[in-house]
Amino acid sequence: MALDWAVILPAAYFLAVGFLLWLIWPILIGAMFLPTPPEVVEKMLSIADVGAGDVLYDLGSGDGRIIIAAAERGARGVGVEADPIRVLWSRLRARRSPARDRLRVIWGDFFKTSVSEATVVTVYQGESINNRLREKFEAELRPGSRVVSFSFKFEGWEPAEKHPDADVYLYIVQPVKA
Ligand SMILES: C[S@@+](CC[C@H](N)C(=O)[O-])C[C@H]1O[C@@H](n2cnc3c(N)ncnc32)[C@H](O)[C@@H]1O
Repeated sequence: MALDWAVILPAAYFLAVGFLLWLIWPILIGAMFLPTPPEVVEKMLSIADVGAGDVLYDLGSGDGRIIIAAAERGARGVGVEADPIRVLWSRLRARRSPARDRLRVIWGDFFKTSVSEATVVTVYQGESINNRLREKFEAELRPGSRVVSFSFKFEGWEPAEKHPDADVYLYIVQPVKA
């Protein structure tokens, strides 16, 4: 059978453009996706002792790996993600999890999403975003809530604990001083 180049060439062109868009899409919308390595996900959940009864919010939830792992430990997992492609992908992944009933992914901006029901919040963002989030957490989270950050600290907050083998920091939200 002869190859029909009039079909193959345009199809290859669209595939190549689609692939490039998939790669640069996060940069175009200003939201870089760097997944947390699986062994670090476990460390983040262990340091905060996440389990049944917890409501964990992952801010910038990417492919959903943190909320899925948290739900599989018995917690309720809520992801907030700005990139619609990651939202779709993480929702598909969540549906395949045995803990699917405890999972939700919100498509939106985490600065505009309330985290007041969270008992644990996880973040893997840069320093300047963390500093903006700190004010949000102080306003919305209840004292005793845990905040776990991978890679970056929160300026002005003292970590309650640092994981011995990873750049994972645990913070406990303090009561507001009178
Ligand atoms: C470094 S990735 C971390 C992904 C995931 N939490 C993980 O640990 O594997 C940061 C994620 O935050 C998302 N993001 C950045 N700014 C955001 C915003 N304002 N609202 C919602 N998501 C945001 C990006 O799209 C990206 O998926």
